Amino acid sequence: PTGAARDDEGVVRVGGVSVAELREEFGTPLYVIDEDDVRAHARRTLEAFRTAAGRHGTQVRVYYAGKALLTTEVVRWVAEEGLAVDVCTGGELAVALAAGADPARLGFHGNNKSVAELERAVDIGIGSIVLDSEIELERLAAIVQRTGGTQTVLLRVNSGVHAETHDFLATAHEDQKFGFTLQDAPAIAARVREIEGLTLAGLHCHIGSQIFGTAGFQESAARIVELHAELLAGGDLSVLNLGGGFGIAYTSADAPTPIEDLASGIVEAVARECEVRGIEVPALAFEPGRAIVGQAGVTLYEVGTTKSVDLDDDATRLYVSVDGGMSDNARPALYGAEFSARLVSRSSDAAPTLVRVVGKHCESGDIVVDAEYLPGDIGPGDLLAVPATGAYCFSLASNYNYVPRPPIVALREGTARVIVRGETIDDLLARDAGVGATLFSKE
Ligand code: LLP
Repeated sequence: PTGAARDDEGVVRVGGVSVAELREEFGTPLYVIDEDDVRAHARRTLEAFRTAAGRHGTQVRVYYAGKALLTTEVVRWVAEEGLAVDVCTGGELAVALAAGADPARLGFHGNNKSVAELERAVDIGIGSIVLDSEIELERLAAIVQRTGGTQTVLLRVNSGVHAETHDFLATAHEDQKFGFTLQDAPAIAARVREIEGLTLAGLHCHIGSQIFGTAGFQESAARIVELHAELLAGGDLSVLNLGGGFGIAYTSADAPTPIEDLASGIVEAVARECEVRGIEVPALAFEPGRAIVGQAGVTLYEVGTTKSVDLDDDATRLYVSVDGGMSDNARPALYGAEFSARLVSRSSDAAPTLVRVVGKHCESGDIVVDAEYLPGDIGPGDLLAVPATGAYCFSLASNYNYVPRPPIVALREGTARVIVRGETIDDLLARDAGVGATLFSKE
């Protein structure tokens, strides 16, 4: 992971801005996102897929999966770099629209979109809705019939390829909530084609997230192309959307496949299967989230307390408590996700010691970095940087223990600005309807 680096004068900078200045100006904890880096990842990803698709004479559209990190600024950055945006709730849709996104370049996901959400999407002329269930199909049919509107849809299908983080295994029956089975999809497609006002644009499939290899994507693509070819018998299909899920490095132990290799590997698999089926390579779409923003983020924390614990084998573990934790980064607690940490406010010659970086929440699973070697003299007031927090940290943040959520500061060409302000305790109290009421005692 990139994150903070020491310059020639020994000053630690992220995106060209000194971390000491960031702390001084914005406080901690602080989400920092490097706009230049987000834009660079967006460009590189688009270029990788365009190049791969171009080799087979077809077009590609890359949607940024907004669930990874969505603010109006982030929407503008990726849109300016040529990406479309995928949203999965009315809330995410509202953010994309507030950013001025072109509705025609938005896709709408979700396994339980409400009638109100679907109505809003049709009303603004959203580019595509990814249908996830029969109930949703009937809801949408009723909306276009009632309003006389039209809507382009894709069918989310489950390829039966279950992707693990580093591995994949094929399962006959996918026991999860999203999408249609390969077996059910043809009947659903036929039903969509019957409904006036709905246009079936194609199939959609997403096999999982934080995937390092190409094989799972290729297997899934081959299965979906087979279904795509079958459905062509009943009418045109303009696109095949193969989702996101491209992994990034969180620690030095991670070795994800470069996006260029993933892109060419997946597109090759599609092209091969199209050749076997005797069909043209369709226009393709992809939906990376993490791969666009993950490595562009770094979280800064201040150390508050430390405590040393003797372990069985004569070793010790130093618990280093920071001023945030699972409320700003739920991933370790939710998924056992790994991160790294660095001391960035000073240099130290102290011998490295085994550290567990923990948060301030009342829960022992409140871990930021499970195991890391940091200088043994680390203590109160030190500033820690945790890299690769751009994806699914702000978006999964909570107010557990009434801890306000940190601001997001964006860096561009060596300058910093707030793109989402930090929460205050007053923000949190403002929702409590009983504030200010008198407390009567029985005496
Ligand atoms: N498309 C669909 C339909 C998805 O469900 C997702 C992610 C994506 C695209 C983007 O996947 P990405 O490229 O970011 O891997 N909170 C978890 C990740 C949940 C992913 C949910 N869906 C985490 O922190 O690892």
